[in-house]
Amino acid sequence: MDVRRWLSRGVDAIEDWQAGFGPFERDASLRVSDEQFAGAFGEFTERLRENYPFFHPSYAGQMLKPPHPAAVAGYLATMLINPNNHALDGGPATARMEKEAVAQLAGMFGLATHLGHLTTSGTVANLEALYVARELHPGRGIAYSTEAHYTHARMCGVLGVDGTPVETDEAGRMDLGGLDRVLAGGRVGTVVATAGTTGLGAIDRVHEVLAIARSHGVRVHVDAAYGGFFILLAGLEDRAGLDEAPWRAIAGCDSVVVDPHKHGLQPYGCGAVLFRDPDVGRFYLHDSPYTYFTSGDLHLGEISLECSRAGAAAAALWLTFRLLPPTPDGLGRVLAAGRRAALDWAELISDSERLDLYQRPELDIVSYFPATRPRSLSAIDEASARMLAEGMADGSHPAYLSALRVAASDLARRHPGVEPDRDGARILRSVLMKPEAESYVRELHTRVEQLAYLDHAP
Ligand SMILES: Cc1ncc(COP(=O)(O)O)c(C=O)c1O
Repeated sequence: MDVRRWLSRGVDAIEDWQAGFGPFERDASLRVSDEQFAGAFGEFTERLRENYPFFHPSYAGQMLKPPHPAAVAGYLATMLINPNNHALDGGPATARMEKEAVAQLAGMFGLATHLGHLTTSGTVANLEALYVARELHPGRGIAYSTEAHYTHARMCGVLGVDGTPVETDEAGRMDLGGLDRVLAGGRVGTVVATAGTTGLGAIDRVHEVLAIARSHGVRVHVDAAYGGFFILLAGLEDRAGLDEAPWRAIAGCDSVVVDPHKHGLQPYGCGAVLFRDPDVGRFYLHDSPYTYFTSGDLHLGEISLECSRAGAAAAALWLTFRLLPPTPDGLGRVLAAGRRAALDWAELISDSERLDLYQRPELDIVSYFPATRPRSLSAIDEASARMLAEGMADGSHPAYLSALRVAASDLARRHPGVEPDRDGARILRSVLMKPEAESYVRELHTRVEQLAYLDHAP
């Protein structure tokens, strides 16, 4: 699609709608001339050049990519109106779109019933799930793995709830024996399983976590902020297909978070939380003296902790789902390409003399480190940091990677031959979340091998 054309059509459509309300004078205080704007805009676009090229396959670093052009067109057109999805009073059209898009997410997870809404981020979505966890089990804490996103511990602090980290196994998944021991203490009310950890893309065995939790009368929340859309690959015959068990178990858990602004092709400002039991809406009950007047239907603010939220975020997601729905044949094809890219690169790294694979990728995150001589943690740490910096600084043939700090014990479990001369090391990590990564993997590998040259010299 030609995004310029559709942006301009979006402006036309909104102006056409506005014209129906009759002419009026824009206030002089808001007036900006084209010359004034040109100066400021020139400076502004120059400042934006400081960014890394998230759109390009040479950017194989953090969990970042531009939104789909359909989302951009939907967001920008809606932004000209700027509806607020807090209430039907502020965003009647986009609040309805939000409910429809959230229902599609619920369908993707196989939830038979749901109560849910979009949020501004995965962190806020998880906060809501932990808030409900606290209300349902007052006085009891929350357990999550040591590889869970760092915000779970922070949000437990915010909520005044005890947070208990559970150790992980050799693949970075929650250790089931460790979980059983923690839950046996009787002080935990909810366990957070992560379906796709931020660092390594490891998938906690949600089905087994759920069975253990239920045997202790404990609830389960699934943090699938990053990994959630990979459910579209569960059970596929394709090489990118994933073991179904953890993904299908999500439908039996109590809540789940997924971030459309990660793998759902959306701009930032789009997370989502879904509860299986719509009855938890009672924990959100509040009175707003200013809103909820225009309709007897549910206003999204009535079931969320946030007040104002961009209707444009819901509009962009709704429009994107019209074109690339959350189905295996829709959005699933985008995720499958990234996963195949990660599997292909892992194979190349396994055959490389200059690089070592940290662990086999489960989703689209590849973790690796230079095969340094000596093979020590301090050499790996320094070489990884150098490769990260040199890759980004090379103007003619850049490679944008990211780093991951791992503990000496975690590295030793996977690579017992590495000399543990310090307590941890930075290794390298690439999130291959653009489907274009698949055809670029060889080039990326060659470049990263070149970056490792110094450390491989005899
Ligand atoms: C598993 C997981 N949970 C939560 C978050 C936090 O999401 P956000 O950055 O949207 O607040 C992330 C971010 O990467 C994540 O990967």
